[in-house]
Amino acid sequence: MKISVIGCGYLGAVHAATLASMGHTVVGIDVDPGKVEQLARGAAPFHEPGLDELLRDGRQTGRLTFSTSAAAAKDAQVHFLCVGTPQDKTSDAADLTFLVSATEALLPHLAAGAVVVGKSTVPVGTVQMLRGALAPRPDVLLAWNPEFLRQGTAVKDSLVPDRLVYGVDGGRAAAFHSGTGAPLGETAALDTVYEPLLRAGIPRLVCNFATAELIKSAANAYLATKISFINAVSELCDASGADVAELSEAMGMDPRIGGRYLHAGLGFGGGCLPKDIRSFRAQAADLGVTAVADWMRLVDSVNLGQRERTVGLAAELCGGSVAGRSITVLGASFKPDTDDIRDSPALDVADRLAAAGAHVTVTDPKAVNHAWRRYPRLRFEAAAGRALEGAELVLLLTEWDEYRRLSPEAAGAAVRRRVVLDARNVLDAAEWQAHGWVVRGLGTRGADVPAVERALPRV
Ligand code: UGA
Repeated sequence: MKISVIGCGYLGAVHAATLASMGHTVVGIDVDPGKVEQLARGAAPFHEPGLDELLRDGRQTGRLTFSTSAAAAKDAQVHFLCVGTPQDKTSDAADLTFLVSATEALLPHLAAGAVVVGKSTVPVGTVQMLRGALAPRPDVLLAWNPEFLRQGTAVKDSLVPDRLVYGVDGGRAAAFHSGTGAPLGETAALDTVYEPLLRAGIPRLVCNFATAELIKSAANAYLATKISFINAVSELCDASGADVAELSEAMGMDPRIGGRYLHAGLGFGGGCLPKDIRSFRAQAADLGVTAVADWMRLVDSVNLGQRERTVGLAAELCGGSVAGRSITVLGASFKPDTDDIRDSPALDVADRLAAAGAHVTVTDPKAVNHAWRRYPRLRFEAAAGRALEGAELVLLLTEWDEYRRLSPEAAGAAVRRRVVLDARNVLDAAEWQAHGWVVRGLGTRGADVPAVERALPRV
């Protein structure tokens, strides 16, 4: 099929590249000329494992091109809207400006019977609003096909998704004509797009627009709920002497609960979960469903509380105040295997420590280049070994493999004092303690405050 993908960020660039790898002819369209130029060269503008290879393949086969002009979409039969829906600057709601402007830009270039498919995460009711924008073109069909990919595993998630969801208006007549002349409705058009995935047995659910919109928001809200639940319990573990890592492992063995997204630590960040739970809260409040609105407010506040708790523990580990202390932060991206620093819990904590007077050095395998301009209070160092030199406290805030595998002996030789706050609960505390480290986690054993006080006298 001929397909256009509007918006080539974390979602659209991956979607365009994976569709081309399935054999479609795809044009990716974005208003950012720098991004388009880089993608056209076959290089991803951000770190995403496997994406460079797909972009290069698409370029070699000629099936994947990029453009800044909406007119490049004119021959496409299916158009995917993949633009961002960030949090509104003055409220919790999602800002739909990019979605509306992308649809309006596309309008004059839509072929007869084309299908417009939204993939961005949107509040319920958005599709009805976009139908208004598409009203001048009654022949054009609209569908909503939410995306569930995670950054860091986006290529795999797109090629082997857990499910495909199609939100369609079942009452409308088929209008799309494929190359064979056979009429196709929205469902059949999407089935043609995803034919290799359906053949491989990926389940697909066809539902109405509101359900499709809510499935995505509710899924992210549930993931965030699981994380905040275990983080709230981790505080209970600290208060009672229990170990949250063992507790969550045992809970997760019950298949009704499952162990994923039950890993206690610094909490969630990134360009999706935080803004999506706020948008979900705002939607629920607008619709008068206070239980969901209150729930989301609590999930958000527990999550942000983990950052506060980490800053407090850092002060405790420095004998009462971080002022004047040399602190090394391992990790800047919002999670491992991405260079995305949007709403990064690690950078938030690092910046708060610097605001409290600490000398903070941050290291990260991929995100340093993105971060240093935005955080003038922090010192950045790409190599972990150098970043650790002279540290009085080490904070592990993003669990890159490189930091999980850090040698306690080598790290110990670099630092001034062997004290680590493992805010992602990933280090082998016993091994680190065997090398003379004081280890502290969030809700895990290893709280060794007398040893800390010996190591760091109160200031
Ligand atoms: C999330 C969802 O997982 C995707 O399904 C969804 O498509 C995407 O948002 C989106 O809306 O576009 P993503 O933001 O890439 O994907 O990140 P996740 O892998 O879900 O991690 C989110 C945050 O939760 C990270 O900061 C991670 O460190 C944190 N997390 C995750 C925990 O703190 N504990 C856990 O047990 C799991």
